[in-house]
Amino acid sequence: MKHDDIEHKLPTFAVLVTIVILIGALVEIVPLYAVKANVPTLPEVTPYTPLELEGRDVYLREGCYNCHSQMIRPFRAETLRYGPYSRAGEFVYDHPFQWGSKRTGPDLARVGGKYPDAWHYRHMEDPQQTSPGSIMPTYPWLLQDGVDLSRTEGKMRAMRSLGVPYSDGEIARAEEAALAQAGEIVGRLGSAGIRVEPDREIVALTAYLQRLGVDGRRAIQGSGAPGGEARP
Ligand code: HEC
Repeated sequence: MKHDDIEHKLPTFAVLVTIVILIGALVEIVPLYAVKANVPTLPEVTPYTPLELEGRDVYLREGCYNCHSQMIRPFRAETLRYGPYSRAGEFVYDHPFQWGSKRTGPDLARVGGKYPDAWHYRHMEDPQQTSPGSIMPTYPWLLQDGVDLSRTEGKMRAMRSLGVPYSDGEIARAEEAALAQAGEIVGRLGSAGIRVEPDREIVALTAYLQRLGVDGRRAIQGSGAPGGEARP
């Protein structure tokens, strides 16, 4: 069969081209799902705690990603301002990931540990208290509204179905673990003169924000990889 024979039969040619493209696509895509080694993981990066998971849901619900990215690009200006640039392995437990595409506010990929818990409390109540001239909206309801910790187990199970390695024990003790972590935050807020119930949304959100980028920073600094220099 000559090449012309196929090329001159338009419908046949179209079908054959489609088949070839599909085979190419399968060769590219299937290993991404099938070969575990293709998912870049960092041993230091572990799943969110139950309380952090709840805080992350608050972050999603409030649409914080509309103004904040969580993706430090490998440019000098960004690593100097935000810390070591983001690695793919840092996001394996983020479903859905919060890279964002707009930066009205600063990138938050490594905001964990940058400020004390009380700073976040005051900043959410009214950003002008900590950042004079800030255009970030106020979120006073986070200080009042509660998190329903009876639903945390279900959320962890959903995450597990997406590949996050929560054990049965961790899921069963979700509420207990969340309250224990919340207690630590409430204690630190108390020392700063702030009284708040442990199951308030602000406590969960603070837990989440304080976790951001912490594992990744440890992984990168340990490896001595470029871009791992400490924030000045
Ligand atoms: C309209 C845009 C906008 C939205 C929406 C927004 N922010 Fe901000 N955010 C900013 C701006 C601008 C700043 C810088 C000034 C400041 O510190 O308030 C900022 C600063 C921050 C900082 C401090 C970052 C740093 O490195 O100093 C944190 C943390 C933060 N925002 C968290 C949040 C969270 C959590 C939400 C959702 C509940 C949120 N933001 C929603 C605009 C926004």
